[in-house]
Amino acid sequence: MSRTRCDRTPAWAALQAAFNTSGRTFDARVALAHEPNRFEALSQQAPHVFADLSKNLVDAPTEQLLLDLAQQCGLAQHREALFAGEAINNTEQRAVMHWLLRTPVAAAGAVGANPALAALAPELSQVHATLDAMLAYADTVRADASITDVVNIGIGGSDLGPQMAVLALDAFAVKGKRFHFVSNVDGHELDRVLQSVRPQSTLFLIASKTFTTIETMTNAVSAKAWFETQGGTDTARHFAALTTNVAAAQAFGISTTFGFWDWVGGRYSLWSAIGLPLAIAIGGAGFREFLAGAHDMDEHFRTAQLPSNLPVRLGLLDVWYRNFHGFGSRSIAPYHSALRRLPAYLQQLEMESNGKRVDASGASLPFATSPVLWGEPGTNGQHAYFQMLHQGTDVVPVEFVAVKTARHSLPGHHTLLLANVLAQAQALLLGQADAGGHKHFSGNRPSTFFLLDDLTPTSLGALIALQEHRVFVSGSLWGINSFDQWGVELGKVLAKDVQARLLSGHTEGLDASSAGLLRLLRPA
Ligand code: F6P
Repeated sequence: MSRTRCDRTPAWAALQAAFNTSGRTFDARVALAHEPNRFEALSQQAPHVFADLSKNLVDAPTEQLLLDLAQQCGLAQHREALFAGEAINNTEQRAVMHWLLRTPVAAAGAVGANPALAALAPELSQVHATLDAMLAYADTVRADASITDVVNIGIGGSDLGPQMAVLALDAFAVKGKRFHFVSNVDGHELDRVLQSVRPQSTLFLIASKTFTTIETMTNAVSAKAWFETQGGTDTARHFAALTTNVAAAQAFGISTTFGFWDWVGGRYSLWSAIGLPLAIAIGGAGFREFLAGAHDMDEHFRTAQLPSNLPVRLGLLDVWYRNFHGFGSRSIAPYHSALRRLPAYLQQLEMESNGKRVDASGASLPFATSPVLWGEPGTNGQHAYFQMLHQGTDVVPVEFVAVKTARHSLPGHHTLLLANVLAQAQALLLGQADAGGHKHFSGNRPSTFFLLDDLTPTSLGALIALQEHRVFVSGSLWGINSFDQWGVELGKVLAKDVQARLLSGHTEGLDASSAGLLRLLRPA
């Protein structure tokens, strides 16, 4: 499908005019005081996730212009192409179907179902055959008390997703098993884990979509060598590979394999075999709930009208902030310690997807794309960098994630936690305009508030799918391909050259800085 880039539409010009006249000076405090029903109009209950957008620098006319922009850019058609399994990852000629991984078999015949499912029946049946096998395996491992340690070796999407989700759903995890995540090629990481496990009670999961990633392969070779040196023999029992490249895994010597497909991007692969650590932790039934929560959000994104479509509203706000307000970053503040890896996970999702300077056809873009994403759990962030959020010179939109129900019984803590998250959003909004000098807070600093009733497999699945789709929306309007990642390749190529030079000492052809550092890095 041909897509119209956002800056080439009448709505873009209208948004610029609106920003120049009233958008730049918009005050959310005034709007909240004077617009009846602003909270109701700018908040919504999406599947398993409530979102309040009313503290943002946006009003109904601006939202309408943003919706016009979406309409003029063909967002609905692009969304249709996504859910039809078209090859929208054009630079790699691949479909983008992580959503199919969470589509239940029964969806195919349901009223109002995605019409493309009929043609995708072979893929859907492969998905479920693999899922059934993987979950049966997960439940066997889960029930096997002799396996006490699960070590996931993978990086990027083959690490961040399962790691984030296993931590997030710790309250549901099987007792008596420890989960370790080794991603860095820095041997300190693997070494520390190997010192704490025993070969006869450890399951190594080698997670790599391509089964070629140098960090993962280096760690996998070392883990297997350690296993054999320690007297381990039953590789089929102690190693499993999660990959689209089953042949490479078998050539490596791993016979227990769970596959997936090239139409699942690395940073979208948590729902595939890459989710095996999570499935072992929370069990097959729990993993199906996780998929079901995400599917509910898929259906919301696929079918809801654009004005009441939460991923659409968030993605449009992202464009408004990045391209009109010029905000360069977004801070994620999960007020739940189990969500401590959520910011890192979202960093890859947003920045690897939308950190592009050309459109899908390769033409340079004249406007900004992905913001920088960063954050830490609350309340820790409050005692570190919130100073800058409240009084710094840059405005940084903040996204709070709060969970209504606690799964511990320590008195007082949860009320205090919830009081803090609400108070921070309030302080950003209200400021302290009457105080002078160092005590002055300008206020009117935007934030979005996500609220989950409880942190469960279902609500986590929905929250993650929501974030995936909002990244799709902004990427779609920017006209970019959100599903490739050519920007990571150059460093990989250069690392091979530098590795050879570190061994040989040859510095010919290197820039003077790299040559100087290389000499310092070589052993004496
Ligand atoms: O180098 C970037 C990247 O390709 C990510 O997109 C991906 O999640 C990660 O590397 C790991 O790739 P793989 O799963 O193929 O090892």
